[in-house]
Amino acid sequence: MKELKFPEGFLWGAATASYQVEGGIENCDWAQAAREGKVPVCGEAADQYNRYEHDFDLAKDLGHNFTRISIEWARIEPEEGKFDPDAIEHYKKVLSAIHKRGLKPMVTFWHFTLPTWFSDKGGFNQKNSPEIFMRYCLYVIGSLHEYCDLWDTINEPMVWVNNGYTRANWPPFKRNPIKFWGALQNLIKAHNLVYQEIKKLYPALNVGVVKDNINFVSDWKPWNKIARAAVDSFWNHYFLKRTHKNCDHIGLNYYFHSQIGKKKYFQKNDMGWDLNADGMRQVLIDLKRYKKPIYISEAGTADHADAHRPEYIRDLVKATHEAISAGSDVKGFLYWSLIDNYEWALGFEKEFGLIHVDRKTQERTVRNSALVYKKICESNSLTIE
Ligand code: BGC
Repeated sequence: MKELKFPEGFLWGAATASYQVEGGIENCDWAQAAREGKVPVCGEAADQYNRYEHDFDLAKDLGHNFTRISIEWARIEPEEGKFDPDAIEHYKKVLSAIHKRGLKPMVTFWHFTLPTWFSDKGGFNQKNSPEIFMRYCLYVIGSLHEYCDLWDTINEPMVWVNNGYTRANWPPFKRNPIKFWGALQNLIKAHNLVYQEIKKLYPALNVGVVKDNINFVSDWKPWNKIARAAVDSFWNHYFLKRTHKNCDHIGLNYYFHSQIGKKKYFQKNDMGWDLNADGMRQVLIDLKRYKKPIYISEAGTADHADAHRPEYIRDLVKATHEAISAGSDVKGFLYWSLIDNYEWALGFEKEFGLIHVDRKTQERTVRNSALVYKKICESNSLTIE
């Protein structure tokens, strides 16, 4: 038996995103797409809008001292340029509830859903979209800067442009490389602008981005090595090379590895995704090049039966420890997700939660994997054979 100790002050918790858990959000592009029958209906989701106190009670009981949420833009700015103070009040209550339970919050300004007035006008394809996004972020930060000091501008820019403009299975459902490119450029501008403006006003806040990096590997064949380097450079580094100077930290979301050429077999999760925690170690080591503190802002698995989740969590934590030993400046780990939620185009079918949510009664049930994770959180260590 060996105990892998984490640095003092290491943060442990789980993440959620507003649209996926809150419920009752009808004025955003995803709700609009559901009304048009293009994606599943989200409806009351996990009703976290009303049940957040209970959910954070559970997080506290599970040994967490860290949590990630996002703010719903469509709630804050339901009409262009018109901000809703009641929506801010709600998030003040949520953040106070988080602090009251001894959790440190990390807040994302934008996690995939756009107000319909913004998406109807062209979303991030509008020339002035970075400024419109900045106006929203500055309103939020003006009201909430005392409630949270760790912020992320954008969640997974590459996943969002890829699903929206290449796979076209997410809003705005446009298979269009020119729009893909335009949106990506505007996201880069939006991040840089928001970072600079926030830092002018509140230099002490820690602002970064949540990036969706993939562990690309190849066999020995030279053309596969070239292909690997090309996709790695574009998917993992194009956005970060243009934004890292405007980041106090990098948030890493890790779900995928991709094998180019000869493929090794890996156990699959309910999404059909390979389970390869060691890929996260490699991604974390690769991110050292930006010389920024890293928060693992999401890593997790869909596992209704909770059969492989306990071991996978332990593997992810081990990979984190190995990356730290290899010099990665990792500050915290957020499992995705705290509770079962709306898994985008797949609706409620896939369950990532440490806590199961009954679809009919909204009743919460703590899974065994949450208790396995609790041990790690409370001891700030992982015991291995
Ligand atoms: C997203 C989450 C999503 C999770 C699992 C990440 O891409 O940030 O919103 O639920 O992966 O697919």
